[in-house]
Amino acid sequence: MDAIVGGAARLDLVLLTPVLDDLVAGRRERATAAIGAAIPDWWPDEHDARFLRYRLTQASRDPAAGEWLVRAIVLRGEGVVIGHAGFHGPPGVNALDEAGAVELGYTIFLPYRRRGYATEAVVELMRWAREERGVRAFVASVGPENEPSLAIVEKLGFSQVGEHWDEEDGRELEFRLAT
Ligand SMILES: CC(C)(COP(=O)(O)OP(=O)(O)OC[C@H]1O[C@@H](n2cnc3c(N)ncnc32)[C@H](O)[C@@H]1OP(=O)(O)O)[C@@H](O)C(=O)NCCC(=O)NCCS
Repeated sequence: MDAIVGGAARLDLVLLTPVLDDLVAGRRERATAAIGAAIPDWWPDEHDARFLRYRLTQASRDPAAGEWLVRAIVLRGEGVVIGHAGFHGPPGVNALDEAGAVELGYTIFLPYRRRGYATEAVVELMRWAREERGVRAFVASVGPENEPSLAIVEKLGFSQVGEHWDEEDGRELEFRLAT
């Protein structure tokens, strides 16, 4: 599977696009074998199954978008999936409708939070987009009460540039970082 390996100290970021259909159809053994790491029994839950189905639709409509979509965050050494992260789509798909910008999304499963894994995954995704795809602008939409996510974008130097209403997540603050 296409993976970003080695840039992050503790994590591999394995592209899930080729196994989205297995994951949403519950073909767990096939997905696990392709990812090369164990997925928790409960994942994907209803929320993430909906999210993965949406990414599957995106990938089916635009195969070139595939490499930008969701990646499993694999804890190297332990060989377990501890969350997922990726972009909302290829450059241009972001809450600001900014050509060339990509929007980040990230989740760390509960037992693995507060150990810097989300920060490490986001830094590595941004490095890949910048160095290997020439992306210069990043966007993140964060709920005003999502303290850990706010801490991440602030730590990485993002600035708040606006806000919007998301049908699923409610009010979200818009952050942007140009590199
Ligand atoms: C947001 C999320 C991905 C963070 O994952 P994580 O691996 O715990 O994040 P990190 O450990 O890299 O860093 C989080 C930062 O927030 C801080 N933080 C974590 N939990 C916090 C809390 N409850 N209150 C305040 N600050 C908190 C940490 O101290 C850390 O900052 P620091 O490195 O300066 O100490 C995780 O909480 C999550 O999956 N939430 C649900 C999905 C979500 O909200 N995704 C983001 C959508 S924009």
